[in-house]
Amino acid sequence: MSKRIHFNDVVTRDGFQIEPEFIPTDAKVRLVDALGDCGYAKIEVTSFTSPKAIPMLRDAEEVMGRIRRVPGVEYTVLVPNLRGAERAMESRADELNLVMSTSETHNLANLRMPREKSFAALSEVIRVVDGRTPVNVSLSTCFGCPMEGDVPQAEVLAWGQRFADQGVRGLTICDTTGMAHPAHVARMCEALQQRFPALQLTLHFHNTRGMGLANVLAAVQSGITRFDGSLGGLGGCPYAPGASGNISSEDAIHMLEAMGYDTGIDMARLLQVARMLPAIVGHEVPGQVAKAGPTSQLHPAPPAVAELRAAFS
Ligand code: COA
Ligand code: ZN
Repeated sequence: MSKRIHFNDVVTRDGFQIEPEFIPTDAKVRLVDALGDCGYAKIEVTSFTSPKAIPMLRDAEEVMGRIRRVPGVEYTVLVPNLRGAERAMESRADELNLVMSTSETHNLANLRMPREKSFAALSEVIRVVDGRTPVNVSLSTCFGCPMEGDVPQAEVLAWGQRFADQGVRGLTICDTTGMAHPAHVARMCEALQQRFPALQLTLHFHNTRGMGLANVLAAVQSGITRFDGSLGGLGGCPYAPGASGNISSEDAIHMLEAMGYDTGIDMARLLQVARMLPAIVGHEVPGQVAKAGPTSQLHPAPPAVAELRAAFS
């Protein structure tokens, strides 16, 4: 049997949070519902952050209240503090995805507090949640900070360890602004799997410098089986200078399926949903397979080919 890869689509959270025009609640709900029928393991629906920090997602309660929950799909949400966790639990999120940065500068820019203060706040969340809802932790800027530069691997492992010690179910290792390259990814993935064999390890890449799919490949070849992707390749952190889109879910899934991995995704249906995106956001999106069609979709040969065949036979 081919190896199972689990995808989490973050388009309505990471994808939308950087869009300049407010996307109506109806469109968000319709998109989550359409993604729910595509075979995803997880969908990151929204974030319970301050509406001043992320105005796009100020309708988080309403979106969570109105989506149709497909059995077998986990509906997760991003949470920066206890207030966010309370809102998320109230909204019956299947998982809390806590967030902090491994870079002090990015943590100050994004979450308006030092890392230690975020860590204390998130530890308090884990204590209060007390196992009622599974907790994942997303660590930002693990492959480099756009303001500080290098983030040592030891730093990433140390923050991961502090959360592992509190019993979280998983860690998401984020390349917030596309600074990772495949050799770096392979080293990181090997170290992570060695240090945290019992945790769900997810890799979260941005395609800011065109290395997104190469990084997915490096991670998969190192044994990683969980990825975040954003439909259409939308996305980015509004508080990370130079941020741009995540890896496109459909491009990554198409690549892995072509290589023989089992993503559980209905590609035809996923591409139909991806093609709805430009109308929803009002501009073209970076994803390529939705434009080109999958490799299985062939084109008729031009008429001259039949004549040439006859002439050369
Ligand atoms: N949900 C809703 N409102 C929240 C909130 C939450 N989780 N956390 C804080 N607030 C509100 C407070 O009630 C307060 O409102 P008021 O001004 O009307 O009184 C305001 O936000 C400021 O609260 P404070 O605790 O002082 O937060 P802050 O200004 O230091 O900001 C964060 C800290 C973490 C809440 C904010 O920076 C944030 O939400 N960041 C998210 C960034 C993000 O999602 N980035 C992209 C993903 S990586
Ligand atoms: Zn991201």
